[in-house]
Amino acid sequence: MAFLRLDHVSKHYLTDGARVAALHDVSLEVDCGDFVALVGRSGCGKSTLLNLAGAMDFPTSGKVYLDGQLTSGLSDSGLAKIRREKVGFIFQSFQLLPALSVAENVELPLLLAGRGSAREIAIESLEWVEMEAFAQRMPYQLSGGQMQRVAIARALASGPRLLLADEPTGNLDSSTSEHILALLRRIVDEKNTILLMATHSAEAARIADTTVTLKDGRVLDVSVRAAMQE
Ligand SMILES: Nc1ncnc2c1ncn2[C@@H]1O[C@H](COP(=O)(O)OP(=O)(O)OP(=O)(O)O)[C@@H](O)[C@H]1O
Ligand SMILES: [Mg+2]
Repeated sequence: MAFLRLDHVSKHYLTDGARVAALHDVSLEVDCGDFVALVGRSGCGKSTLLNLAGAMDFPTSGKVYLDGQLTSGLSDSGLAKIRREKVGFIFQSFQLLPALSVAENVELPLLLAGRGSAREIAIESLEWVEMEAFAQRMPYQLSGGQMQRVAIARALASGPRLLLADEPTGNLDSSTSEHILALLRRIVDEKNTILLMATHSAEAARIADTTVTLKDGRVLDVSVRAAMQE
């Protein structure tokens, strides 16, 4: 089975008595080494799909399997474990903790997970994104692109197979975005992870292996980048 599998997944929200269908009958399989761009208009369900894929939320109907495990069938401790060990999140707003240094931000999830050698792993992870020289700085002393690199290091530190990125270049200028996208591409290729990335950027979609277009919560199109273009 693919590492991530969505099987006829629908997600409805109830707000003020009205039902909003955020996703409708979405089926998708993604395996390690796949860089998938999720595109579509605002409100089409991209973030909802990322939350379901990362077991942060559960479908109203249908099934999500992460590494062969049905997410809605896991206990709280099973969920915490799978999120901690198998999933890394990258956000548009970076979400670094302002009172912690760069190294401490990357180290924190490892400490919470009770991992030994947290500082060494954090520094290795910072080396990966070429931010080790900034380890002692505070987040406010960094540019947006540097903050995103630190946030990527934090997502990578626990060695997750699945990286989920919600508009990771949404707050960055175009040349910084290109660098971040190239870094994400290298991570997928060299670490053999999955990257599922919601994006409004055409450039981001071009660098992906597969582009999934959502419309009103449904999969409108799945296009695979031709090998010729590589
Ligand atoms: N917690 C929630 N409660 C109620 N409705 C929600 C909730 N989260 C999302 N929705 C609705 O579900 C639909 C899909 O939202 P989602 O955030 O997944 O879209 P998106 O594609 O990520 O949009 P954007 O590009 O603006 O980030 C929208 O109609 C949204 O209003
Ligand atoms: Mg969104």
